[in-house]
Amino acid sequence: MADVEEPVPVFTSLQGVYGKGDTLYEAQSRYQRLKTKFFETYGHIPDLYARAPGRVNLIGEHIDYEGYSVLPMALLHDTIVAIRKQDANNNHQTVRVVNIDNHKFPGFVFPAEPLQEVDRSKHQWANYVLCAYKGVFDHVKAKGLEIKTPYSGYDILVDGIVPMGAGVSSSSAIVCASAIAIMAAEGLNFSKREVAEFTCICERHIGTQSGGMDQAISLMAKKGVAKLIDFNPIRATDVVLPRKGAFVIANSLTVSTKAVSAASEYNYRVVECRLAAMVLAVRLGMALEGVQNVNTLSDIEGLCIAFADARGESSPLLAVETHLHEKPYTAHEIEDVIQRAKHVFSEAQRVYQFREAVLSSEADDVKLRRLGNLMNESHTSCSKLYDCSCPELEELVKVCRANGALGARLTGAGWGGCVVSLVEEGSVSSFLESLKKEFFRSRIDSGRIKEEDLDTYAFASKPSGGAAILNL
Ligand code: GLA
Repeated sequence: MADVEEPVPVFTSLQGVYGKGDTLYEAQSRYQRLKTKFFETYGHIPDLYARAPGRVNLIGEHIDYEGYSVLPMALLHDTIVAIRKQDANNNHQTVRVVNIDNHKFPGFVFPAEPLQEVDRSKHQWANYVLCAYKGVFDHVKAKGLEIKTPYSGYDILVDGIVPMGAGVSSSSAIVCASAIAIMAAEGLNFSKREVAEFTCICERHIGTQSGGMDQAISLMAKKGVAKLIDFNPIRATDVVLPRKGAFVIANSLTVSTKAVSAASEYNYRVVECRLAAMVLAVRLGMALEGVQNVNTLSDIEGLCIAFADARGESSPLLAVETHLHEKPYTAHEIEDVIQRAKHVFSEAQRVYQFREAVLSSEADDVKLRRLGNLMNESHTSCSKLYDCSCPELEELVKVCRANGALGARLTGAGWGGCVVSLVEEGSVSSFLESLKKEFFRSRIDSGRIKEEDLDTYAFASKPSGGAAILNL
C-alpha cells in the first residue's frame, strides 16, 4: 500500500512519535501539563490526543494551488489536541475549545452542528477547530457513512508551539490535529491522503483559497526526509537531503497574516493565475467550452509546451511571453498577470531541478551549491515576479546570504514570516550567531523581542515526522 493510502498512524507511547532525549522529555512534560489542565477544565481526563506538525517549504512557493509539485519538510514544532467525547446522555452537546494559553487564545464554545457557518468576520483561532469539525463530518457524509444525530459534543484542549504568522503553517497544524482527534474520538480513521484532501478543503472556510501543501506535508511527513508533494491526486515521495547541509529558519518578525489579508494578497494571486490560465487557453486556441473548465496554469501547460515545441523550444514560458502581451489588454493591465504566470512556470521547474540536484551523484558541496542557487532564484522570483515579499524579508535574506547561506528565500505565503536558509552543517551555530548580531540584536534592544526567546525566532531544523493519533 502506498504510504499516502495508509491510515493516520496510532501510537501508544510518546517515544514512537518523539524519539528519545530532550525532545521526548519536552513532549512528556507538555502532554502531562495538557492532561492536568484538561482535568482541571473539564473534570475528566482526555480520551486521546492527536498531534500535527508545522512545516517549512524548501522550494515551490505559490504553485500548489496551480497544481504543481512542492518540496516541504515537517518541523518538530507541532500542535497537540487533547479530546474527550461528551457523555451521550447530556442533552446540550457542544464543542468546547480551550487553549493551554487561554490568556492569549480565549476559549470558545460552539453548538455540535456540523452545518454551521464559520464566521469570517471574526477571525479567531478557534475557527480553525470549527473548520476541522465541519471537514470531518463533510467527509463522513461524502463517504456515505452513517452520522448519528443528535451529534455528539467534544471537550477539546489545544497546545500549539508552531510559530504563528510565520509562514510555517501553524493554522494547518491546528486544523489537521483537530480533524484527526475528532475522527479518532468517533472511532474512525481515514487514509492520510483523504485527510490531507478534506483538511485542505475545510480550511478554506477561513476565507483563504490555499492549495494543499500544508495539510499534505503535515499528514505525510516522515522523519529524516523532505517530501516532494504532487497534487491531483496527492502523492508524497521521499527526498533525502544531502547530509552536509542544514536548514535554518529565521523569522522576519513581520507577521504574515494570510487569513486576515487574504482577499487583497493571497486570494488575489490565485485569481491572477486563473486569469492568466484562461487568457492563455483562449490565445492557444482552446475551444470555449474547454476554457470554462480551466482553473490553473497546470491545466494549460500541455498547450504551452506544444506551442513552444512547434517553435523548437521547450519551456511553457514562451507562450506567456508571446500571448499574454497581445491586445486587447494594455501592457499595464496585463503586466501583473504575466509576472505571476512566469513565476509559476519557472518555480515549478525549479522544484524538479532541486529534486534532480538532490538525486545527482555529485559531491555534497557541489550539490549544496546547486540547491542554494535554486533557492536564491526562487526568492528572486517570489519577490520580483510574484510580489509576495516585504522589506523585512528582503533585509533578512540579505543578512543570511552575507553570512554564509548557500541559499536563502522566503518560505510559505510570504508578505512576512520566515526565511529558510541552506547552510553547511558545521556552520549552523556561527550562522545563528551572525543572525543574532546583524538582524535580531537591534530588535532585542528596541524591546520588540526578548533575548531569551531568540531560539523560537531562529533555529535549525531536521525533517520531522507527520501527524499522529496517540492513545496514551
Ligand atoms: C500558504 C498556503 C499554501 C501555499 C503557500 C505558498 O502556506 O496555505 O497552500 O500556497 O502559502 O506556497
